[in-house]
Amino acid sequence: MAMELEEFLSTLEKLADQAEQTFAAAADADHFEAARVQYVGARSGQMKTLQKQLGALPKEAKPVGGKKLNEAKSRIQAAMETAGDRLKPSTAGKQSGIVLDPTLPGTRRHLGRTHPITQTIEHLKEIMGRLGFAVVEGPEVEDTWHNFVALNIPEDHPARDPLDNFYLSVAGQSAVDVSAHEAQLLRSQTSTVQIRIMENKAPPVRIISLGRVYRPDPPDRTHFPVFHQMEGLWIDTDVNMAQLKSVLTLFATSYLGEDVSIRFRPSFFPFTEPSVEADFLWNGEWVEFGGAGMVDPHVLTAVGYDPETVSGFAFGLGVERLCMGRHGVGDIRDLWRNDLRFLHQF
Ligand code: DAH
Repeated sequence: MAMELEEFLSTLEKLADQAEQTFAAAADADHFEAARVQYVGARSGQMKTLQKQLGALPKEAKPVGGKKLNEAKSRIQAAMETAGDRLKPSTAGKQSGIVLDPTLPGTRRHLGRTHPITQTIEHLKEIMGRLGFAVVEGPEVEDTWHNFVALNIPEDHPARDPLDNFYLSVAGQSAVDVSAHEAQLLRSQTSTVQIRIMENKAPPVRIISLGRVYRPDPPDRTHFPVFHQMEGLWIDTDVNMAQLKSVLTLFATSYLGEDVSIRFRPSFFPFTEPSVEADFLWNGEWVEFGGAGMVDPHVLTAVGYDPETVSGFAFGLGVERLCMGRHGVGDIRDLWRNDLRFLHQF
């Protein structure tokens, strides 16, 4: 009985050794295939034969026999994989008849490129950098102090409506409660960054901040629930409205071209007084690209500045609108669909 098991194990051992040598010596795909059939062929491979012999072993010898059979299988499998990897490139070349000629010209591959919005953001930063504005960042998840209160938007102001903002839910509170008290939301404007900067730095301040803002608008040709703004802020001892208009005009002509028509319309924002909206002429239509104005004294006071000694202007521009105007994109949703046929044009 013991003899039968011993014989089985030694045959197994020899077979695995032999298989390892054969696979290691296989010089091409034909040798490899012959070895595969010989050792692990599904019908008459030698492993198959040994598998049958295992079935004929006495019951008490089976556990050891089975374990060793599996070990031998793994060894052969590993040897086969190594040989397979080693032979792959040359067999591919041989079968297809392709001979590598390194002197042939290469095939051009299209490299990835940055998204048009990213390109626009880089371009805007570069123009504003030339005008002396430093780039700063702010968080996308904000609190009501930075998004509203410090910007002179009181609790009962319609801009704080839960239907017009993405409030983050708080356990046990309805959306209305959440909007009224100290709450968190996805920022609806980059004006939040003005507050964060002024809270942390004494004047003068001359910054821009670019990033995403969120509003629950149904998507259409000109709206999308997430978009980008460029916020600007310049505070010093005597900054005035004429400088605001010069900076925005210089900016718009640098980005959209010398021949672009721009106009400023009187407007209202809680955080600026006076306020304007800026439009550029596109395909015979005036397109609004942002709001601006002289920073309201309430805002300066909220961040601990003295409105008697400093003044400044701020602006918030729509990055998608600018990108669409410059490149002639007619539908904002194209900037979010990420269709490569569209993206490859930038
Ligand atoms: N935050 C305004 C908006 O999202 C845009 C804006 C207007 C920003 C006037 C400003 C500003 O800084 O002074 O509609």
